[in-house]
Amino acid sequence: MAKELEEEDPIKLAAFQAKIDAEIKIEPKDWMPEKYRIGLIRQMSQHAHSEVIGMQPEGNWVSRAPSLRAKKILMAKIQDEGGHGLYLYCATETLGTSRDEILENLHAGKAKYASVFNYPAPTWADMGAIGWLVDGAAIVNQVSLQKTSYGPYSRAMVRICKEESFHQRQGYEIMANMAKGSAAQHKMAQDALDRWWWPSLMMFGPHDSESAHTSQSMKWKIKRETNDSLRQQFIDKTVPQAELIGLKIPDDNLKLDSETGHYSHTDIDWDEFWNVIKGYGPCNKKRLDHHKKAHAEGQWVREAAIAYAKKQELKLKTA
Ligand code: 3HC
Repeated sequence: MAKELEEEDPIKLAAFQAKIDAEIKIEPKDWMPEKYRIGLIRQMSQHAHSEVIGMQPEGNWVSRAPSLRAKKILMAKIQDEGGHGLYLYCATETLGTSRDEILENLHAGKAKYASVFNYPAPTWADMGAIGWLVDGAAIVNQVSLQKTSYGPYSRAMVRICKEESFHQRQGYEIMANMAKGSAAQHKMAQDALDRWWWPSLMMFGPHDSESAHTSQSMKWKIKRETNDSLRQQFIDKTVPQAELIGLKIPDDNLKLDSETGHYSHTDIDWDEFWNVIKGYGPCNKKRLDHHKKAHAEGQWVREAAIAYAKKQELKLKTA
């Protein structure tokens, strides 16, 4: 058992594990092992960062959407993502950390966000591929996380999953329309699928055997399914969707096992995976610089909101 856990009160630890095993949600005021609390802050804050950073590649396309309808749908999706980030930041704060601390960790490179957002989105078809594949992968992961043991995280997931399916469907609609359009449009959709397929598979993390957190996360039901199991679900669901609209998954080794219903495939390029996570992806610097700039420019809004809240509080006290 890890050293930190040994320092926990064994009676409290056993009672905590019994609650987890009995599917009783852990709430903010409940006793929890420090490792559980810190592990949740890590995962939930990085989840929130991913939602907010993920707004950047899509934000670049609002002014270039091919129709007013497409623009309205994209704006609605981006607004949803910002809301998902807020739910998750608020849920993370229930663990005794602050928004400032969470964001300082992101800006200092101490906290991660999904590596998938460190790739460029050069065409409108990339908006389709992101919605279809990135949000599609996020749905597989987040549907599972609805059953996570920490109450505020689980409830945030229930709310987020309701909106996520719209995100996936609007992306798939873009890809389906382009795939059956002109040869140039079909090629644009195929190129986007080629760009986003592997980074989407990387969203599920390293293989279970390489995962630093999966075994403890599964024991404490932070995770309900492992990285590889969720990745396989996503592949099995998405390959038929590509075939239905006449697009080809960029993996010549993809093969359906008709007995299990699972697709076997080429392994992920784990050097690329870790390189992008370490900051050497095509857009890492751009994404973080943009986030820091937007955060600095928003300082006056935060100050005004805090001043207003304090004034209201004073009014209530002196009323
Ligand atoms: N990108 C960046 N870092 C990743 C990663 C990825 N795709 N996959 C794994 N990592 C990191 C982990 O954070 C961990 O590093 P850390 O210890 O510094 O945090 C390390 O690689 C080892 O990975 P593990 O598998 O051991 O880590 P986890 O057990 O945390 O599993 C995870 C990784 C599956 C991403 C898990 O954290 C998780 O389920 N997170 C919640 C879902 C989430 O964050 N999704 C991101 C996308 S959200 C999104 O796409 C929004 C949508 O609306 C577009």
